[in-house]
Parts: sequence; C-alpha cells; structure tokens
Amino acid sequence: MNTQVLPINAESLALAEKLIKDGGIVAFPTETVYGLAANAYDTDAVKSIFTVKGRPNDNPLIVHVHSAYDIAGLVTDIPSYAKALAKAFLPGPLTMVYRSKQTVSAAVSCGGDTLAIRVPSHSGAQQFLKQVNLPIAAPSANVSKHVSPVTAKHVYDDLKGKIPLILDGGKCSGGIESTVLDCTGNVPCVLRSGLITREMVAAVVGECDEYVLKDGGKVRSPGMKYKHYSPACPTRLFDFNDRYSAYALYKEKNAEGVNVWILCDDTVAVESDCERILKLGESENEIAANLYDKLREGERVADLIIAIAPQKQDGVMTGVMNRLKKACG
Ligand code: TXA
Ligand code: MG
Repeated sequence: MNTQVLPINAESLALAEKLIKDGGIVAFPTETVYGLAANAYDTDAVKSIFTVKGRPNDNPLIVHVHSAYDIAGLVTDIPSYAKALAKAFLPGPLTMVYRSKQTVSAAVSCGGDTLAIRVPSHSGAQQFLKQVNLPIAAPSANVSKHVSPVTAKHVYDDLKGKIPLILDGGKCSGGIESTVLDCTGNVPCVLRSGLITREMVAAVVGECDEYVLKDGGKVRSPGMKYKHYSPACPTRLFDFNDRYSAYALYKEKNAEGVNVWILCDDTVAVESDCERILKLGESENEIAANLYDKLREGERVADLIIAIAPQKQDGVMTGVMNRLKKACG
C-alpha cells in the first residue's frame, strides 16, 4: 500500500472522509500527538487499528469528536463536575471517561462498559472530525510500544505501507498524550497525567483524585500497565539529584567509544560539559512538547541515551516523568 502524506485542505479532507466511510484508517494531527482514526461504529475498521499498530486487544481506544458534536448519543450519566470541566478545558488535551451507551462498536472499549471521549483543539483535527461528522476511534499513530508521533514524518516512519493517508498538520504543540480523567465516580480521577494537570482540574471542581496502580489491584486504564514510549536504543534514567553520576557515565561510555547522548532540559544542559546533548527546552510546556521528538531523534543518532529527570516533578512534569520512566526507566 502506498502511504500518501498530504497537507490539510479541501481535497485531502474529502479523501480522508472517503477512506473513513469506506472502512479504512487515516492518520491525523492533534494538539497532543498524531492519532490513527477509524469510524467508531465500524467494528472491522476499529479492529484493523489494533492489527496495524500491534496493539494488545485489551487496551481500549479514545473516541474523538468535533466541538459541536453531541456526545449524548454515545455516553450517559455525565456528572455536573464533568460539565464544568468540559466548559473550562474543551476543546483541548483532556479525555473524559463516562458510562458508555454501547452505541459505538464494542471493539472500541474492548467490551468494557465505559467510553473515553476527547475533543481535540488542533484546527486540522477539528476540520477532519467535522468533515466526517462521526465519532472517531483513535489511538496514537505509532507502532505499539514505540514513542508516540508528534510529526507526520514520525507516523510515516512507523506506519508507511500500512495506511493509505497521513494528514500533515505540522508538529504537535502539546507533545504528550491527553490527560485521561475518569468521570464515572463522585470525584474525577486522573488515570493518565498530561497537560491538563490534576491541580488544574481541582482548581475548577474542588477536588481530583489520582489513580495509583496497586499490586493485585484492578487496572482502570489498561494502557498504563504496558511498557510504552520506548526508543529503539538502550536508555538509562537518572534523577536530577543524581545527575553527576549521569555525567560520569557519559564520560566513561564516551571514552569506550560508545556514541552516547544526554537527554535533559536546558538548565541541566548549561551546567553539564557533555558535548552530545538532546535539549528538551526550558519551560514545562517546551519540555513536554519536545520530549517525543527528542527521544525519536535520540534513537536515530545514539547508541545509548542517558536521560536526566527535570528537577520539578509536579504539574505538567508529572506527565513528563511518567513517560520518561516508561521510555528510559
Ligand atoms: O492525546 C491523546 O490522547 C492521543 C491523541 C491521538 O488523541 N491518543 C492516545 O491514545 O494517546 P492511546 O490509545 O495511545 O491511549 C489511550 C489511553 C490508554 O491508556 C487507554 O488504556 C486509555 O486511554 N483508555 C481508553 N479508553 C478508556 C476507558 N474507557 N477507560 C479507561 N481508560 C481508557
Ligand atoms: Mg499510545
């Protein structure tokens, strides 16, 4: 199969619509990462997403809709706190989990009784979702367990020959996947951290829990149990406080002739005297936006990536740390 990469315009949107309505799958940009889209009503199309990605079949998909779409046909029991959060943060990088009305294919939720809904803010995503005007099931558009894609090129590198079309909307500004928030209980609960932080949710609705997987406990967001986001080369992760050991390891490996690179924020980069550095940027949002791009660059250029965790660990950095640990831990 030939994989076309097209800028978003009337022709490419019409082609995307045709492919989706014929049961095909299409990659599209969002403000977090690129997604791999299928009609959520079409079981065969949804199943083909799992096949193309090599995704475990117990890991449910998020349904994406445009901002004027009425989700009352998809989910039920929407609590008042969720309405307040939707008003505050949508469209944007927040996915909300509700009781499913079981109107979309059961393959989306892997047979479960909840459904995750996301309204992305990226203009290309909105145009695509309005054009098809269907609920669109979409995971990140990477091969399962690889680093999520934040450019059309990343999608192409993973899925060329396997999908017919990638809508190219440039580099994603957010850079880490959406916050997944369980809205089925009395208090919202973060299942996956992201750019909409637990603190931001609590500031709007008073309280917000964070789900911590306990040994033997029931997994509420199946994706969190899998190894994820991994670059294709060996990696090591050091705490900020342990960064001098990271510099020492860099020097030792460098002396052995290993093509070793440090991955760190700009503050650490300035302090260290290592030559090969994948710089993540300075602010929290820059660090999140560059993380996957730099991990993919790292796997291309390095034999070993030594990651150094940022000093700050709360807020947006909660999500960054979660991904860094899965990628390099
Ligand atoms: O930013 C994003 O969320 C991107 C873009 C494309 O929208 N999508 C994304 O999808 O990251 P994916 O499939 O890579 O991750 C979806 C996560 C998984 O951890 C999955 O287990 C969880 O959401 N999830 C999906 N449906 C769920 C549900 N009904 N209940 C709990 N967790 C759910
Ligand atoms: Mg993913």
